[in-house]
Amino acid sequence: MINVRSVNLCFDHQTVARPVLQDISFQIPPYGSCAIIGPSGCGKTSLLFLLSGLLQPDSGEIVIAGTPNCGTILQNFGLFPWKTVYQNIGLGLVLQRKKKSFIQERVTRLLREMGLGGFEEHYPGQLSGGMQQRVALARALATEPEILFMDEPLSSLDALTRERLQNLILDVWQAKRITAVLVTHSIEEAVFLGRRIIVLSKRPGRILRIVDNPGAGEPDYRQSEYFFHQCGILRETLKGEENGQQT
Ligand SMILES: Nc1ncnc2c1ncn2[C@@H]1O[C@H](COP(=O)(O)OP(=O)(O)OP(=O)(O)O)[C@@H](O)[C@H]1O
Ligand SMILES: [Mg+2]
Repeated sequence: MINVRSVNLCFDHQTVARPVLQDISFQIPPYGSCAIIGPSGCGKTSLLFLLSGLLQPDSGEIVIAGTPNCGTILQNFGLFPWKTVYQNIGLGLVLQRKKKSFIQERVTRLLREMGLGGFEEHYPGQLSGGMQQRVALARALATEPEILFMDEPLSSLDALTRERLQNLILDVWQAKRITAVLVTHSIEEAVFLGRRIIVLSKRPGRILRIVDNPGAGEPDYRQSEYFFHQCGILRETLKGEENGQQT
């Protein structure tokens, strides 16, 4: 269970503290999935950093039951360009000082599952955007996290590749019984993948609405009437919020 209670966050801007997130409260049940959506600059990445412990709130608290192993996919993937696909995927396991044979077995399995077989000696710069995103997903999964944080993991992909990778994330979420938290700009992606959807206002990000979306995770959900109904709710809620304040 992830419990976010009355969280506020400010960033200093030219010596003035400017609010970025205001009074954020929500919960994510164990093995749930949560999508965070809102205009550019509203604080989605900051919220993901708070959830993953990379930032601390100015007030309020975030309580995560147990001490879970977390995997994170950063915005723009965060792959190391000077490391091969194999080395990028195995990085977390090397840091955990796992045996070479263990790393080889785990990375080989992930390469197969992600359809990256034969590319292990390539460098990220030699791969398409979709392949880089699969490498990032494989790297995040390598340490078998209990919670997976993803910051726009499928941005800038063509529509069909994006749907294929959405299905892949769905398979991973269900097969490995993890808690998945996904930041996205796409209404359809939020509804397809998020059992709970947090809709943020433009900066400073406040919660406009929490949409419970139990259909997420069903393979044919995209074709259902309820899917379009849920997309409509998000669209209505986000209307008027698109001019996110920048800087
Ligand atoms: N380290 C920082 N110091 C000061 N301001 C920051 C810092 N990081 C982010 N900000 C500001 O905080 C606000 C929220 O940034 P954040 O990256 O969380 O937004 P976002 O919703 O992820 O945007 P996008 O959709 O474009 O990725 C922005 O206005 C940004 O300029
Ligand atoms: Mg962001």
